[in-house]
Amino acid sequence: LAAARASLERLVLDVHDFPEPGIVFKDITPLLADHDAFRTVIEALASAGRDADGNVVVDKVAGMEARGFILAAPVALALGIGFVPVRKVGKLPRETHAVSFALEYGEATLELHRDAVAPGDRVLMVDDVLATGGTVRATRELIEACGATAHAVAVLMELGFLPGRETIGDLSVTTLMTV
Ligand code: PRP
Ligand code: MG
Repeated sequence: LAAARASLERLVLDVHDFPEPGIVFKDITPLLADHDAFRTVIEALASAGRDADGNVVVDKVAGMEARGFILAAPVALALGIGFVPVRKVGKLPRETHAVSFALEYGEATLELHRDAVAPGDRVLMVDDVLATGGTVRATRELIEACGATAHAVAVLMELGFLPGRETIGDLSVTTLMTV
């Protein structure tokens, strides 16, 4: 974990006034471009899907479009289990569950194929940033709509000035960096 945190400090760049004035965007692309750092971070996120003895305790990894995909797919491979995409509305071709949630301006809808996870599955959610917690809450609802359980969430970064962690309730949260 310490190695992953050091990589994040060095390779996540603050971009001021993107996408709007006053916003500090966390650019993870230098981290993704560095093989050793990327591997270290994926291993640290994957640890959220293992118990203290190193046994894998989840059945699927769910990644949230778009930046979550980049992290969740390699985490699934590291754990030796499957990956399921949680997508923005209108992208998945078969029957879905859908959950809408409020954004700062307007509303977003996420979808999950109804058969993406099986009843009883334990699912690890992986994303880049936990901000308000809306994305994680919606993803958890989608997983539960399939009859599965949201086991935990693992993110690179948590925005400490937002109440994301409080709004997602009893869920176990692994964060590599609080900004
Ligand atoms: C960003 C980020 C997280 C989400 C966190 O996604 O990647 O998924 O916001 O915010 P929340 O905790 O308030 O829900 P966004 O949809 O903005 O962009 P992306 O498609 O690049 O992932
Ligand atoms: Mg996102």
